[in-house]
Amino acid sequence: MSDLASLRDEFRRKFGAEPRAFRAPGRANLIGEHVDYNEGCVLPLAIDRDCTVLAARRDDAPIRVHSREFGETAEIALDAARPGSGHWSQYVSGVAWALKELGVRVAGADLFIASDVAPGGGLSSSAALEVSTAFAFAGLSGATIERVEIARACQRAENEFVGMRCGIMDQLAACFGKREHALLIDCRTLAVRPLPLDSARVRVVVANTMARHELAASEYNRRREECEEAVRRIAETRPAVRALRDVSWEEIAEMAAHWPEPIRRRARHVTREIARVHAAAQALERSDYEAFGELMRQSHESLDRDYQVSCVELNLMVRLARELPGVYGARMTGGGFGGSTVNLVRADAAENFGSELARRYEAETGIHPEITLCRPADAASEIA
Ligand code: GLA
Repeated sequence: MSDLASLRDEFRRKFGAEPRAFRAPGRANLIGEHVDYNEGCVLPLAIDRDCTVLAARRDDAPIRVHSREFGETAEIALDAARPGSGHWSQYVSGVAWALKELGVRVAGADLFIASDVAPGGGLSSSAALEVSTAFAFAGLSGATIERVEIARACQRAENEFVGMRCGIMDQLAACFGKREHALLIDCRTLAVRPLPLDSARVRVVVANTMARHELAASEYNRRREECEEAVRRIAETRPAVRALRDVSWEEIAEMAAHWPEPIRRRARHVTREIARVHAAAQALERSDYEAFGELMRQSHESLDRDYQVSCVELNLMVRLARELPGVYGARMTGGGFGGSTVNLVRADAAENFGSELARRYEAETGIHPEITLCRPADAASEIA
């Protein structure tokens, strides 16, 4: 977390008021990629990197919001906020709009945003920003909103204001994170079950490739459409099927043999990945990290070949990780097309693993990657 005292000072200097402070964490997904919008289960953890929002009410209408990372202040006219400009402040206007739709009285405010979750790093800086902003608006208005409703509103903001048709995994991870735990999230029922991650035995190491490919948003939305197309084809003979969650690969492999190649591959990834998440949750419960790592390996392979959302840098980072001692599993995490890999590593090997991985990646690419030994962190909250 950024140094709160100095953030408060900056806020006072900038806006001349005494702020309240709110935070929400980024996330790393252990397994279950591109599964949330297919209503399957996912297994992420909230990480100890936060977006912090300082906020104070003002008596007149507009929202003034300053981003430390962009070094810029924007004004949002509440009644005139419209989707789609592509500006970072769109996340804030989107959240304000979605909360108003929920009946929250969002009024004039000054906001100061400082984030330790690197944008484009695949650790969901966007959900951390949305959820911390939602906590700030809810806090200032005095409204009490269920966490699951906050997650839903934030997803809606991103879908409808930013134009990214994301699922709900990241927002739920930010709203329900638990120290020392991963989260088994059912993206249909939105039930969240924390599963212990014993940090004395394993560590989660995130490796940011520093690559970020422009394709991310457009290809993401296209993958969603391809999954919807698969569901339409299945529903022709099985009308009860609403999402890929409702079928196994074995059940549809035969009919899928006649589908266009991309649709068949996308459906194969999603249905098998959903099965892997259940197996991974069981492996975690019996502390079988070897089995968990093997499932991570299969997940990466499938994301690369069938879902086609990996890239050269992610594949390299995964390959280098697998050659190092103490690693159970390595795979890309998040939407793909750049960003980070997630690695499950024996606790006593984690430090070494991180520095050696950085050295080898830099030797091959000339790019210095950012490596983080994460601690599973608590959910979004107001900071006292
Ligand atoms: C992004 C989206 C999530 C999820 C992942 C892929 O992070 O925001 O909803 O779909 O990609 O698993």
